[in-house]
Amino acid sequence: MGRRALVTGGAGLIGSHIVDRLLREGWSVRILDNLEPNTHRNGKPAWVPQDAEFIEGDIRHRDLLRLSLDDIDVVFHQAAYGGYMPDIAKYVEVNSFGTAQMLEIIRDDNLPIKKVIVASSQAVYREGAAVCPQHGLVFPHVRSVRQLVIGDFAVYCPHCGEETKQVATPEDAPIAGETVYAITKVDQERLVLTWGRQTGIPTIALRYACTYGPRQSIFNPYTGVIAIFCTRLLNGQAPVLYEDGKQTRDFCYVEDIARANVLAATTSALDGLPVNVGSGQAVSIGELATQIAAALNIPIAPIARGEFRPGEMRHLISDTTRIRSIGFTPDVDLSAGIARYLDWIRAQADVRDYFAEAESILRAKRIVHRVV
Ligand SMILES: NC(=O)c1ccc[n+]([C@@H]2O[C@H](COP(=O)([O-])OP(=O)(O)OC[C@H]3O[C@@H](n4cnc5c(N)ncnc54)[C@H](O)[C@@H]3O)[C@@H](O)[C@H]2O)c1
Ligand SMILES: [Zn+2]
Repeated sequence: MGRRALVTGGAGLIGSHIVDRLLREGWSVRILDNLEPNTHRNGKPAWVPQDAEFIEGDIRHRDLLRLSLDDIDVVFHQAAYGGYMPDIAKYVEVNSFGTAQMLEIIRDDNLPIKKVIVASSQAVYREGAAVCPQHGLVFPHVRSVRQLVIGDFAVYCPHCGEETKQVATPEDAPIAGETVYAITKVDQERLVLTWGRQTGIPTIALRYACTYGPRQSIFNPYTGVIAIFCTRLLNGQAPVLYEDGKQTRDFCYVEDIARANVLAATTSALDGLPVNVGSGQAVSIGELATQIAAALNIPIAPIARGEFRPGEMRHLISDTTRIRSIGFTPDVDLSAGIARYLDWIRAQADVRDYFAEAESILRAKRIVHRVV
């Protein structure tokens, strides 16, 4: 395996940590990143290292993308439009079309790329896997708006309608895409894995759990719950919980995600597969808000105002058996990871709350609904 990497989105949270790790391990690294203004309000971040070649540009730009793929062995494709932004067409253009174009160029120009690793997401699942008292392991459907609007947030068995209990979700759970973002993550993952089977070029789709850590944008109110809760609290505002705050997620520290990427690049054991990367631990969003407030020593309790986001999963915890089988275990647990994030965010000059202004847009665009 060669040692020349292209990291698309390499100025962002995950990409920048992959870049650092690759440089430490002696790779030569090129970054393609358009410095998306929602994420990088102050332009190119200081953490983009001198030792990496930086191409400022958009993956939708075919000629630039072609140029950035020259003399590369492994592509770490992280660039994406993310979260619950109100756009529709832009998600499809950046995520689906951008990925499709990259694959077409590599194939049609016979580029000697040896592996493509695409950043997928746990958002590709319909709902987390669950256990029904009657039917054992089940893969529930997304909860209907009709159910959520009356404040019933439970997950029911698709066969008998009994209430279920959450369990970790394995990679063979059905994938669907229940938000615009998730649809385009499904596209990216399927495009890359299908293309890999056709061309014989090794590919891997890493389905990241909720990733957090230093460099997570403090400007983007549409994605990154830990960053959003921190910026709210530091501005004296209560974190806003959707549903009742008892929904659970799997949080993974960004350096662990970066390490999983480099591991995936350097072993063939995962080739051709979708692979969950997470901690495997369930944390409720309400608990998370309380934990961050305690760590910041800001006594503001989170609030739940009876709002919900259609298509959002109730529970999603990664079954990490597959990635653990190649010797990966996450190193940084949630409290240590939050402490590191808080050290970083305290050193940032201008920590504003952008969530308040985003909220009215989310309601107007029907991304956030209210329980009646
Ligand atoms: N952070 C998470 O919790 C999480 C979870 C699952 C999957 N992912 C996926 O991981 C990848 C990286 O996410 P992140 O958290 O580092 O996000 P991020 O926003 O911090 O980084 C994404 C980077 O991509 C760049 N970018 C966006 N559109 C681009 C375009 N059109 N052309 C070139 N560059 C572009 C942005 O400027 C940014 O630097 C994404 O594909 C995301 O969907 C993230
Ligand atoms: Zn059942």
